[in-house]
Amino acid sequence: MSVTIALGLQCLSLVLRVDAAAVFAHFMVQNAFSYVQPDWAADIAVAQAIGIDGFALNTAVDNYEVSKYPDAFAAAEAANFQLFISFDMTYDWVQNDMVSLVQTYANSSSYYKWNGKPLVSTFDGDADAEDFWAGFKSALSNAGITISLAPAFIDFRDPSDAIQMFGDFPSIDGFFNWWSWPDDVAADLTTATDLAYKAGISAAGRTGPYIMAVSPWQFKELGGENDWVEQSDELWKYRWEQAISDVKPDIVEIVTWNDYGESHYISDINPKVNLGDLAPNYVNGFDHGAWRIMAQYYISWYKTGTAPNITKDQVVYWYRAFPKAIACSGGDLPRNSDFPADAVFAYSMLTSPATVVLTVGDNSMSFDVSAGVAIGSVPFSTEDGQLPVISIMRNGATVKSGTGAKAINTSSCPYYNFNPLVGIVD
Ligand SMILES: *[C@@H]1O[C@H](CO)[C@@H](O)[C@H](O)[C@H]1NC(C)=O
Ligand SMILES: *[C@@H]1O[C@H](CO)[C@@H](O)[C@H](O)[C@H]1NC(C)=O
Ligand SMILES: *[C@@H]1O[C@H](CO)[C@@H](O)[C@H](O)[C@H]1NC(C)=O
Repeated sequence: MSVTIALGLQCLSLVLRVDAAAVFAHFMVQNAFSYVQPDWAADIAVAQAIGIDGFALNTAVDNYEVSKYPDAFAAAEAANFQLFISFDMTYDWVQNDMVSLVQTYANSSSYYKWNGKPLVSTFDGDADAEDFWAGFKSALSNAGITISLAPAFIDFRDPSDAIQMFGDFPSIDGFFNWWSWPDDVAADLTTATDLAYKAGISAAGRTGPYIMAVSPWQFKELGGENDWVEQSDELWKYRWEQAISDVKPDIVEIVTWNDYGESHYISDINPKVNLGDLAPNYVNGFDHGAWRIMAQYYISWYKTGTAPNITKDQVVYWYRAFPKAIACSGGDLPRNSDFPADAVFAYSMLTSPATVVLTVGDNSMSFDVSAGVAIGSVPFSTEDGQLPVISIMRNGATVKSGTGAKAINTSSCPYYNFNPLVGIVD
């Protein structure tokens, strides 16, 4: 009897949720120059292991990006992984080339469909007026392909512009809100933009999807106007929780898988990726892989609607290797340099209550934490060259402990670096 009921409910939920909550990661095809099919397969396996359904392929116009597609799709098809095109409109895309790229790949079993229609997204593109997007869609439709178009028009961030945007662009079906960091303020990002543009889709009678960007960090130090940091200290935790509890988007897009230059990569640092001349100064040695442990927890929660049970005690921690006020010999002080706290942040995932102890030099903080997840921090020490130590204690005994891979250097730095090192105690 109970089996019958369970099956009945399962069928019902399948009918109601045609497009289940999906999680994609924004993938910079610009960083796949040296990739062959096994490289795609390796990234796909790592992403799939934490519940990511696919990659949004951020595709510039250059001499190689599109030539990477056959290997990407072959690897995705073999792994039953999903891909969709995200045109990088900061490059001069010609409409015909966009049409033919969609035409070539929309019939792949790995091309992601929203409402049964191939999903196409962008970075930017609102400088191209409605005519451009209408022409793009109608050329595809003449070729027998009806897409769902959900662009990231980055000039639309103000919640009060949402209605106008859908009015200005009758051709767009959904929206991708790229803005997943505070806007040059030392305060948490709110969900005002997400809620307004998500509501705008239904108010305008469009079919979606609403894609919400969730990002762990934002720091860039590539010179001139490209030197900035946004307040990201606890962003990776609260932004996911906003997605799950507040916004409930159709799709979460992790920003990003592999954009090293903006410090929001969650993939491992890949020696096959050419980081250019300046990014290695703040990327090499600054692993982010342990952030995927947090992502896995939230992806499961987002998809199932229930916070997963923690089955293993772990602490994910991150910290910058230099205090914010230190003068460095290379680069320039980034915009908003005063925003981040000089502290080690620790995100605990506990099977049962414990005390989490965070120590840096002569600073030590203890947190009594219940089962589940929690975040705490300890300020940097004024002592030079200290390694953070993170411990889980129960009944006065250390259960697990770990030490950060880099000492915090309070006396000197070779280059302005606000990118954190991420580690794990497990
Ligand atoms: C998909 O369509 C393209 C061009 O229209 C064609 O070259 C390709 O062989 C098709 N692929 C499949 C799997 O049908
Ligand atoms: C978590 O564990 C409890 C107790 O064992 C169980 O009842 C519950 O179904 C589990 N939840 C999930 C999401 O697995
Ligand atoms: C700080 O970094 C400088 C090089 O930039 C190095 O010479 C020095 O030993 C470091 N200090 C500590 C305490 O690690």
